[in-house]
Amino acid sequence: MRLKDKVAIVTGAASGMGASTAIIFANEGAKVIVADLAAAEGAAVADEITAAGGQARFLKLDVASEADWESAVAETISAFGQIDILINNAGVSGSHPDRLNINTWDEQMNINAKGVFLGMRAVIPTMQKAGRGSIVNISSISGFVGQAYVHMGYNAAKGAVRLATKAAAVQFAPDGIRVNSVHPGVMPPMKTSMMSADPDVRREMIAAIPAGREGRVEEVAYANLFLASDEASYITGIEVPVDGGYLAV
Ligand SMILES: NC(=O)c1ccc[n+]([C@@H]2O[C@H](COP(=O)([O-])OP(=O)(O)OC[C@H]3O[C@@H](n4cnc5c(N)ncnc54)[C@H](O)[C@@H]3O)[C@@H](O)[C@H]2O)c1
Repeated sequence: MRLKDKVAIVTGAASGMGASTAIIFANEGAKVIVADLAAAEGAAVADEITAAGGQARFLKLDVASEADWESAVAETISAFGQIDILINNAGVSGSHPDRLNINTWDEQMNINAKGVFLGMRAVIPTMQKAGRGSIVNISSISGFVGQAYVHMGYNAAKGAVRLATKAAAVQFAPDGIRVNSVHPGVMPPMKTSMMSADPDVRREMIAAIPAGREGRVEEVAYANLFLASDEASYITGIEVPVDGGYLAV
């Protein structure tokens, strides 16, 4: 078991890559906090883990709320005693057809960028006390390059996650805390996808991928697993694209 005796908080764990990560982590022995705004779907993921013999609890969390993060840390410690891993995965799509929309910029900064900062800010003191911890921040290929079908606020937010990860890695390495970013490529559409869920746009997106197909959620979850585990004990501040070669072209 690669995460035996570890406690992990996975945000956005009600759906997609977060749900896959939570399930795979539990299979590897972690006690998992399934954190999301979506209560019914999140509780279903926690139930699926428990039914399979794993340990999980659903926790309602808005990643953009400082108060929610404070209670998330308190509830995780009261349920499982410690916090070893944070997967900062929750997010909203930026494939908004109005690419100059101001509200989209604000939403992206608030959820996709500030939400990741608030998560790190909330768990780091507990990890410092323990002298260990692994944080994986989910960015995107959009944290490296622009795309025609993505609002620039998404790129800016995912770029912020990429660099904030490096800053946190440098600042908290002396405390035994590792911080890395994972950059999924073209994956199944997000719940909030607009342009990128359009079949014509998807055909164009897939044509740009050397591997010739979209990624599977578990392909990202396994990268998260490696970085979260002690197998990656000397790896911090790196960027891991999981993109079928998209960024290599
Ligand atoms: N799907 C893709 O093509 C793709 C590509 C690159 C990166 N990503 C990133 O991967 C991560 C996961 O995406 P996904 O494809 O699994 O999407 P998804 O829409 O299936 O899941 C995202 C989850 O985040 C939750 N969420 C949204 N806002 C929240 C908030 N404020 N607080 C708490 N939870 C919130 C949603 O309820 C949902 O369950 C996101 O950060 C996304 O930006 C996705």
